[in-house]
Amino acid sequence: MVKGELTIGFIIICVGVLGFGNVEGNVDVISFGACGDGKTDDSQLLGILLIPNTSEWKSNQTHAWIIFEEVEALTVVGSGKIDGRGESWWKIGTDADRPTSLYFKRCNNLQVSQIISVNTPRNHISIQDCTGPTISNVNLVAPGESPNTDGIDIAASSQITIKDSNIRTGDDCVAMNGGVVGINIINVNCGPGHGISVGSLGRNGGTESVEQVLVKHCTFNKTQNGARIKTVPGGKGYVKGVIYEDITLIDAGNPIMIDQYYSCGDHCPSGASAVEISNVSFVGFHGTSAVKNAISLQCSDTKACSDVRMEDVTIEPAGNIEEVCSVCSNVRGYSRTTTPRVPCLS
Ligand SMILES: *[C@@H]1O[C@H](CO)[C@@H](O)[C@H](O)[C@H]1NC(C)=O
Ligand SMILES: *[C@@H]1O[C@H](CO)[C@@H](O)[C@H](O)[C@H]1NC(C)=O
Repeated sequence: MVKGELTIGFIIICVGVLGFGNVEGNVDVISFGACGDGKTDDSQLLGILLIPNTSEWKSNQTHAWIIFEEVEALTVVGSGKIDGRGESWWKIGTDADRPTSLYFKRCNNLQVSQIISVNTPRNHISIQDCTGPTISNVNLVAPGESPNTDGIDIAASSQITIKDSNIRTGDDCVAMNGGVVGINIINVNCGPGHGISVGSLGRNGGTESVEQVLVKHCTFNKTQNGARIKTVPGGKGYVKGVIYEDITLIDAGNPIMIDQYYSCGDHCPSGASAVEISNVSFVGFHGTSAVKNAISLQCSDTKACSDVRMEDVTIEPAGNIEEVCSVCSNVRGYSRTTTPRVPCLS
């Protein structure tokens, strides 16, 4: 950013500390002139932020490129673009070797809007330990096959709003991780991508919970998954109070999916503890599925999913398949006016 690569309208209005992944420690934004009086003043940065490619990256800190930490009422707006130049990053190493483009930690009442992020090495945006963040009108774009490029990845945060955005990426459009309490995701177009997901939760025997989730008026367009809750056997904690409502499906893979055997493949332990799932509603799903098992509810054999409701769901086969059906186990709840029929639900 200080290298003079800022040339297109990109406005950051901010208060606080801005750190860059390739400089030592944190850099005070005020010293860049990005913030006026360091309180509530605003000013402009003009440009495309270019993430260094792998050979230019000098830091041993690889988890993120632009870091905002401990900021109050930060607003990041602008028509500018963050170009992650992911092509050089996707080929190397593991997830841990690739930086997230924008990382927000311990921010209260954060607002991010109009940002365009393309070809991020890892997540486009990560949010951790924040209260009241709102993300709106963002465009997050990376190829469907780019590795682990989550759109917005959230953990340990509350009262979150994500709305009016387009996310086309290589992993979850939105991932809600442990400690998310109260999130509204409204009018988001997802695809390509791996869906709008709760989890995965309970990795390595961890205790994790997510509650009060509303995903409404969203589209899954040629995604690998749609509305998805994923937990790993051996974990503890809970997922409760989740509503997916008014969802449009365009050739979506796994449109409705609960997977309590996530990431154990053929080696899933039987009798392991599970993150408990209850009070989950799927209401108003319409469109086409690109996979036969359009509805898949695979709940734990030690803790059944309970209060799962399905209503006004009509999923038809996309052109590539003949028919759609439901598969389910260990799930309790009911369905009304749902096609394909879900035999486990009353
Ligand atoms: C779905 O995605 C395709 C590109 O894959 C795009 O051309 C089309 O406009 C999208 N449909 C909707 C309704 O957004
Ligand atoms: C189920 O979840 C919804 C949405 O979070 C919530 O409003 C409702 O009170 C919950 N119901 C019960 C019985 O907990």
